[in-house]
Amino acid sequence: MRRYSRIVGTGGYLPPRRVSNNELAAELAARGVQTSDEWIVERTGIHARHFAAPEVASSDLAEQAARQALEAAGVAAQDLDLVIVATSTPDMVFPSTATILQHKLGITNGCPAFDVQAVCSGFVYALTVADAMVQAGSARCALVVGAEVFSRILDFSDRTTCVLFGDGAGAVVLRAGDTPGILASDLHADGRHVGLLCVPGHVSGGAILGDPLLKMDGQAVFKLAVGVLEKTAHATLEKAGVAASEVDWLVPHQANIRIMQSTARRLHLPMERVVVTVGEHGNTSAASIPLALDHAVRAGQILPGQNVLLEGVGGGFTWGSLLVKM
Ligand code: UT7
Repeated sequence: MRRYSRIVGTGGYLPPRRVSNNELAAELAARGVQTSDEWIVERTGIHARHFAAPEVASSDLAEQAARQALEAAGVAAQDLDLVIVATSTPDMVFPSTATILQHKLGITNGCPAFDVQAVCSGFVYALTVADAMVQAGSARCALVVGAEVFSRILDFSDRTTCVLFGDGAGAVVLRAGDTPGILASDLHADGRHVGLLCVPGHVSGGAILGDPLLKMDGQAVFKLAVGVLEKTAHATLEKAGVAASEVDWLVPHQANIRIMQSTARRLHLPMERVVVTVGEHGNTSAASIPLALDHAVRAGQILPGQNVLLEGVGGGFTWGSLLVKM
């Protein structure tokens, strides 16, 4: 009998400081950088984002989201046998944010804990790895978290990027079982596009060498994103033997409402079946999909038994998708 992993609980956490477009525009204007609520809403669908306080790290956001997911799943932290954190803004160069989270959750059972780094596709990558480990029999109860403090790597003199991103964390608990569960997944990367979206700096000899702030060619990323998101959705649906018309909810990476509209159009899905949280969250990179999933579950939109298509795209270039029966 095939072994499946099933999402049995979700959680999400946004740091309390909500920054509206108008507030951000006023802060940027004081630095001589011009933007407006009108431009940001029209081009991205973003109205606000949340920024973490300076002393708050990705593992702190991850802990809050993880505790919620564990509670929803009715699982004790000590019963986890796998912890994966998807992040591009880890607490430290090493050890992993997952081991820091493991400690914060009080897990002392020695279960494996590691980070996955695939930028905005990070959660899709991490969930696929966790699912494979559950299917292989090496995990029975896994915590998968996407957590980011992207505000730390934004260049607030660059209006083309600093208005887009926010901080947050989302989490799911996976359990092994005989019934689906995660039905299929599809992952890709193309390193020829490393320079399109990157933070090129690195630590060397006690100093940061190169630029430690986010750089993005937004238009090039946009064009690549809409193409690969359509392809990966079809690949996952084909593997699962499920038609696009049978998808109850699309939970896409929350980067730009126009990319989501384009993906929905290409899949012939009405926007009523697309979970959209970019307006209030901004782009939270690896946290965006689990945050959106948790939002829709808690709002009573996503229901048990429904088919949910998750898809992400981001730096690397990386992209992928999963089809999940809730
Ligand atoms: O999470 C990983 C995946 N990332 C993404 O998916 C991001 C993909 N890219 C995008 O979402 C869009 O390309 C952006 C939102 C980044 C930009 O939207 P766009 O419609 O492609 O705008 P643009 O880059 O073509 O810029 C249009 C104009 C430019 O002015 P000119 O040259 O036409 O005079 C920009 O300088 O808008 C200007 N502009 C701004 N104006 C006010 C760029 N950023 C801003 C801003 N406020 N914040």
